[in-house]
Amino acid sequence: MNTLTNKRVLLGVSGSIAAYKSPDIVRRLQDLGAEVRVVITSGGREFVSERSLQTISKNKVHDNLWDKDAELSMGHIELAKWADIVIIAPASANTIAKLCHGKADDLLSTVILATSATVMIAPSMNQQMYASLAMKENLQLLKSRNVIIIEPGFGEQACGDVGEGRLAEPIDIAQQAAELFLSNSLSGKKVLITIGGTIEAIDPVRFISNHSSGKMGMSLAHACIQAGAKTTLVVGSISIEVERRAETIFVTSASEMYDAVMNNITSQDLFISCAAVADYRPSKVSLNKIKKTSSIKSIQLIENKDILASVCKLKDKPICIGFAAETENLISNAKHKLKNKKCDAIILNDISNSEIGLKSDENEVHFISEKNSEKIDKNSKQIIAEIIINKIAKYFF
Ligand code: CTP
Repeated sequence: MNTLTNKRVLLGVSGSIAAYKSPDIVRRLQDLGAEVRVVITSGGREFVSERSLQTISKNKVHDNLWDKDAELSMGHIELAKWADIVIIAPASANTIAKLCHGKADDLLSTVILATSATVMIAPSMNQQMYASLAMKENLQLLKSRNVIIIEPGFGEQACGDVGEGRLAEPIDIAQQAAELFLSNSLSGKKVLITIGGTIEAIDPVRFISNHSSGKMGMSLAHACIQAGAKTTLVVGSISIEVERRAETIFVTSASEMYDAVMNNITSQDLFISCAAVADYRPSKVSLNKIKKTSSIKSIQLIENKDILASVCKLKDKPICIGFAAETENLISNAKHKLKNKKCDAIILNDISNSEIGLKSDENEVHFISEKNSEKIDKNSKQIIAEIIINKIAKYFF
């Protein structure tokens, strides 16, 4: 059961006809245990009464950046610090554009700039406005800044149009907020994660490797630590900083990664195989640099051990989560890997799309287990990692 118990939610209500649903959003958030305060914009006030929001939230509704009394009690900085999460629902086109530009010309936009809390927005507007290029680019920009977009629904709109742009249902907004707080979901658990690419030497100078940056694995490491797990990393070739709160073992080749995993797998509760492990290595590593004039014109390869499959075969195996980096027949290839390697779930990502996957800061994946196949929409790798960890906690622990 998702919960918002002891969580402080600041609900921003901006100028969209769907603002009339905001008292229901407050209710749904409270049903999940949240304490809710509301900030309303001048546009929002046109569509819903402050009195309703005040009565339901049981708190004063905040609306004025320049209110001296409010600044003495709970001003914009206090509100920004108070919130564990800020949800703007409905988020109008104008409010979204203001967030993109970092404007601070009213209380809501100022609070957003001043908060370090997670920000979620639920867009709500006419379908043509939602489909506009400006809106698409604005939402993309906000996603790249880790703002979570609660996708609008499709259907008949207040203006009579039919299309995408209806505010998401209040209960779904509350549920999506609660999903972010499945923290401590791995409390007391031990997790081992492989991260990055492996390097297979040809001679002292050359090697075979791949484009893995390690971003997805490191995001998973952050998410596991946030969720309370004792986290160990086996790290190959990466181009990012290492999560300092984890115990880290650095390796170079697939064989070293195999040994590091096998030496540390006992007593782990969860194994996440995120590394891009080379399937093959040169059969001979030349001790000296191979000269251009040498007779060697091709490299003989031999197969590396499959680390994930080996862990899955262990008698007391931990929960095993693999990754499937695919360019074609995505779902069927991933299901094939799930079955062949006998792991508990596979995270599928489409590496043919340069906007997501290997070097990108964003990803879009499918979480595939024997029982479930769920798409996790495009988002920053950190948010994707948190959603993956929440799902693992929910399904396996
Ligand atoms: N994997 C592993 N050891 C290997 C190869 C892969 O542990 N020697 C793991 C990866 O970390 C990933 C999963 O297996 O979790 C799938 O890796 P992927 O490269 O997508 O698949 P392969 O099994 O290598 O198959 P193919 O390259 O044919 O797609």
